[in-house]
Formats: sequence, C-alpha cells, structure tokens
Amino acid sequence: MMSAELLFKNGKVVTAESTYKADVAVAGGKIVEIGANLKAGAATEVVDCRGKLVLPGAIDAHTHLAMPFGGTVSTDDYEAGTRSAACGGTTTVFDFILQDTGEPFPDAIRRRDKLAAEQAVVDYSFHLAVKDVSGGLLGTMEEAVEMGVPSFKVFMVYDFGVTDGVFYQVLEHSKKIGALIAVHAENNEMVNFLSAKHLAEGNTSAWYHYMSRPEFVEGEADIRAIQWAKSLNAPLYIVHLANEQGALAVTAARDEGYPIFAETCPHYLHFTSDVYKRKDGINFVCSPPIKGKASQNALWEALKRGDIQTVATDHCPFLKSEKKWGAKDFTKIPNGCAGIENMYPYMLSEANRGRISFNKAVEVCSTNVARIFGCDHVKGAVEIGRDADIVVYDPKKRFTITNKAMHGDTDHVIFEGAELKGYPVATYSRGNLVYRDGKFLGSKGAGKFVKCRRIKL
Ligand code: URP
Ligand code: ZN
Ligand code: ZN
Repeated sequence: MMSAELLFKNGKVVTAESTYKADVAVAGGKIVEIGANLKAGAATEVVDCRGKLVLPGAIDAHTHLAMPFGGTVSTDDYEAGTRSAACGGTTTVFDFILQDTGEPFPDAIRRRDKLAAEQAVVDYSFHLAVKDVSGGLLGTMEEAVEMGVPSFKVFMVYDFGVTDGVFYQVLEHSKKIGALIAVHAENNEMVNFLSAKHLAEGNTSAWYHYMSRPEFVEGEADIRAIQWAKSLNAPLYIVHLANEQGALAVTAARDEGYPIFAETCPHYLHFTSDVYKRKDGINFVCSPPIKGKASQNALWEALKRGDIQTVATDHCPFLKSEKKWGAKDFTKIPNGCAGIENMYPYMLSEANRGRISFNKAVEVCSTNVARIFGCDHVKGAVEIGRDADIVVYDPKKRFTITNKAMHGDTDHVIFEGAELKGYPVATYSRGNLVYRDGKFLGSKGAGKFVKCRRIKL
C-alpha cells in the first residue's frame, strides 16, 4: 500500500450493498485501501471512527445556486450553497445551468463554470436546462457532452419551458449523443388556467398554489413524458417527482423494461400539502407543490422498491422578504425552498429510525446518483480508487434543525424544528476536512468540476 495520509479507523463502512467493519486509507485524495487493522505510518492522520459509520459523501443531483428566477436570484451562490452542502455531508452538487436564448451549450457551461470554479468549496458538476435548440443549437449539445456535461433538463412549465415538440426533439437527439434528458413535468396549460381561475375568485393564499397544481397536473405530465421516452426507447429522468400517479407510471414503465428513472426530494417525503394552510405556507411554495398523504406514501414505497432511484434537494432558496411578494397573490411567490444541508441528515435519520436501511440511504443519496449521471468512476461509494469524499456519521447524536445552525446564506429552512436521530460529525472532500462538529473548515475555490462520462443506462 502507498503510505496513507489519512486513516479512518474502527468505523463501519456503509455501501449501497453492505455494511462492514473496516479501516479506510486515503492517499492523494483517493481511497487506496480498505481492510481490517490497517497500519498508520508516521505521517498518517488517524480519524477514530469507533461507534461511527463511514459513508460516501452525498451527491445532490439537483440544485439551483445563484439562479435568476421568480423575479430575483436564488439566495445561495456557489460558495454559500456548497458550504452548506459540506456541512450536511454532501460532497458533490449538480447545479442547473439555465441556457440563455440563442446560447450554445458549451458557452453556457463556460459562463457558469467561471463562477463555480472560483467559489465552490466542494466538487460540482452541471446539468444544462434547455431553452432554445433552434438554428443549430441542438448540434451544440454533443460538445457539452464531450466537455463532461451529458445531462439536460427540459421544463414543461414556467415562461422558459419548452414545447412538446422541442422536448421530443431533444429526447430523440439524446440517444445519438449519449445524453440523459431530465424533465420537470407539470401541465402548463392547466397550471395557467387554474391559477387564473383561483385568483379571479379571490383565492390568493399559498393553499391555492397547491390547488392550481393538484396531483393530476403533475401525474398527467409524467405519463405524457414517459410515453414519449418509451416511443423512442430513450432514457428519461423525472426530477422532483411528488405524486402517486407519476410514481405508479414510472413503476409500470420500468416493469415493461424501459429506462425510466425518477428522483424525489426530502420535502415531498416529509411534509404534506397541509403545510400550505399554515401561517408560513408561502415559505413552502415550490413546484411541483408538496402533495397529499397518499402521494407521500407512494413515494416512500417507490423509493423502497427501487422505482425511485435518487433523492435530491431541488435547493432553490429565497429570502422570507421575497417569499412575501406573494402574500396576497400566490403566483408572485418565488418558487423554491432551501434543503441542501438537510437532505443527507434527514435520509440517514429516517434510516436510523428504521424506515429504510442505511444502505438504501447511501444508494439513493450517493451511489445511484453517480451511476446515473456518469461519475461513478470517481464518486458515489467508499471503494478503492474513488475520491475520498467521506462522511463520518454518529448514529447517537441528536440534532434539531434550525436555520441558525445552518451554514448557507438563507434566512429560513422549511425543516425548522425537525428532530433528527444521528448526524454527520465530519465531512471530507477528496481527503480534505471541510466540516467537523458544527463548523465549516473548507475553503472557497477548493471544489473541482467533475467531468461526467457519456450516459450508459
Ligand atoms: O420550485 C422549484 N422547484 N424551484 C426551482 C426550479 C424548479 O422547478 O426546479
Ligand atoms: Zn423543476
Ligand atoms: Zn429544480
């Protein structure tokens, strides 16, 4: 073995498949050996992990950092967002780049990478959100894939959403170039119609955000998107799946053998649409909205079965003052919530309480994400040869989520007051300590771009 710089001793390693006692040795930012009773050299720093779990860092497949949206820009930039991520055990984030109209995809990557490279404290990669494929722009997708960004998202809603035709065209093209298309599925016409109807009737509160985007508005769009992907046998990844009908449609398509994948988010697993009746309901406004109990149960079941493969945050925070723009008109509330520091602790806490296994939490928050998005050669598991992105987790630690204890730039978290069983006590990014016992210890600009490979699903 090459001489280790860092040795995680006496912990229990958790992978997607198994849990076992072992020491983990790190050199040059990589995991170089895993085994019993590994010896420390004179220069090795030893981390005592007795009673702790040794986990791969989470990979957040869905963030919106410093994103212009809803008449403002999301609160966390690449520095604040990745700092917060690190303190919640997330060591890689996939951020969405919103293409400018007329902009070639490689230019969009360069534009955002300038910001991220300077600011990110942990590793990062991107997905490209497609606005425009006219006039030869479709052809620039392939160069983006070669640059290491093989995943693209289409929105079926919002003013920058694409038409059904563009969605289909992009799906068809993705097969030729080894890309993966992700979709935000909701029926735009229904959203617009129902929003106008409720406002005209004087129904303006956050509850009517949910009533304008009820369960079927998302479910119907999921079914259509799946239908088009099936017709092309193209892989499709449904982001932030929140409803039962969609979850069942994903299951049916997968049972037929189609490469359909889905992600959900902790807020859909933890809350129900009742939050929109609360006094602070505007703070929970995101799209798709949080659904009813039947949908929440269906998401947990699909996750356990493997029909939902990933959990991501959709981290898109706005200040309370910005959320208040919609106090008298729900359509003016910037859509999105904070969650980047809460995902892994929440999922691990649910595992610690017995709802899922720790292996499942690791699988959906890290291993599957790396595999689906083409970075499992370096990320997603405590395994020899992969980056030493490691979280030391104390299953006995109790933690109450408060915004005060978070490390981003947001002024509220929707998980305020949630009590967790177990919490990360240290996070390492490529062998560098970035978080310990409540304190951020990393540095701005230390995060590196993760070049993803062509998608093979
Ligand atoms: O409400 C949300 N989800 N905001 C972020 C943009 C998106 O739709 O993913
Ligand atoms: Zn979305
Ligand atoms: Zn999103």
